[in-house]
Amino acid sequence: MEINPSLHHMLVILLMLSISSSPSSASLQVGFYSITCPSAEAIVRDTVNKAISANPGIAGGLIRMHFHDCFVRGCDGSVLLATTPGSPTAERDNFVNNPSLRGFEVIEDVKTQLCPQTVSCADILAFAARDSALKVGGINYDVPSGRRDGRVSIGDEVPQNVPAPTLNANQIVSNFGRKGLSADEMVTLSGAHSIGVSHCSSFTKRLYSFNDTFTQDPSMDPSYAQMLKTSCPPPPTNTDPTVPLETSTPIRLDNNYYDGLINHRGLLNSDQTLLTTDSTRQMVLTNANYGAANWPTRFADAMVHMGSIEVLTGSDGEIRKRCTFVN
Ligand code: HEM
Ligand SMILES: *[C@@H]1O[C@H](CO)[C@@H](O)[C@H](O)[C@H]1NC(C)=O
Repeated sequence: MEINPSLHHMLVILLMLSISSSPSSASLQVGFYSITCPSAEAIVRDTVNKAISANPGIAGGLIRMHFHDCFVRGCDGSVLLATTPGSPTAERDNFVNNPSLRGFEVIEDVKTQLCPQTVSCADILAFAARDSALKVGGINYDVPSGRRDGRVSIGDEVPQNVPAPTLNANQIVSNFGRKGLSADEMVTLSGAHSIGVSHCSSFTKRLYSFNDTFTQDPSMDPSYAQMLKTSCPPPPTNTDPTVPLETSTPIRLDNNYYDGLINHRGLLNSDQTLLTTDSTRQMVLTNANYGAANWPTRFADAMVHMGSIEVLTGSDGEIRKRCTFVN
């Protein structure tokens, strides 16, 4: 079709207007940067791959960081902001995240390499989590993007929103429900605990001071508990070592996590508790028995859904020039 130059001109302006005036509820879209920063996703993947090759633990760090970003003020990169003088302690310095959250330097590294005025920190983190899942789990999926970065990060909001490892199944279901995620998505996403580590302090109660009747959590395999005790000294202690969250394939993102639960080798209470309600137990069994084929796809879908929680789009928020500071 032939269109005359002035009509063409008008169409371009209309198109630009419709993009720039799109409401903040506009949804994310796959390939958001394909024109404005075509190499964005490739640079993230390349940088993440190198970081994981040097330290496989970074994969878990980045996947968890995306989760913690999305559960506090939505996926807006608020977890990346540093504490600044005169402001409340930032999310990343709350006890839930500091010292355990890791991979910040990878996000900052990416930011210096690509279109810093164009690609948001929140999107870099979403891409980095996906690329981590691909590198250590062979799980690939399209990440809808176009998130904008928030300007607020408040440490106290982390324990109010990110579930604690001491919660029981019903509590975790309602925590995820408040973010619009189903019980099934919660169980599916918990499979991320197939990689990475936990500090002993997140579960030592299960080993040494369970309740008035049992010193050790009876839902934990005693030989597993015995092994954990060799790594984790009883409190009070000044050291807080880490152990793998999943012992059979600790740096491979797969559905072995669910087999571990069935064998009473869930590390955190929040893991093992998934066997204690009929519905979540059924989901665990399904992921264990049929999950080799299905779980990766379901995990990918749940990650995309999690990545859409309360996102800022359109002209909301900003594109941070550096991920640790607001513009
Ligand atoms: C269901 C509720 C959840 C609870 C209670 C929970 C809690 C925890 C805790 C306590 C740790 C260990 C932190 C430490 O002591 O070092 C951890 C690690 C981890 N979590 Fe979760 N988590 C949950 C869900 C998720 C979800 C949805 C994801 C991602 C999709 C995730 C990904 C990870 C990863 C990858 C690690 C290992 C991090 C590393 O090695 O640096 N978790 N989680
Ligand atoms: C201790 O835990 C066990 C196993 O979960 C439970 O059956 C028992 O009622 C608990 N006892 C107390 C005093 O809470």
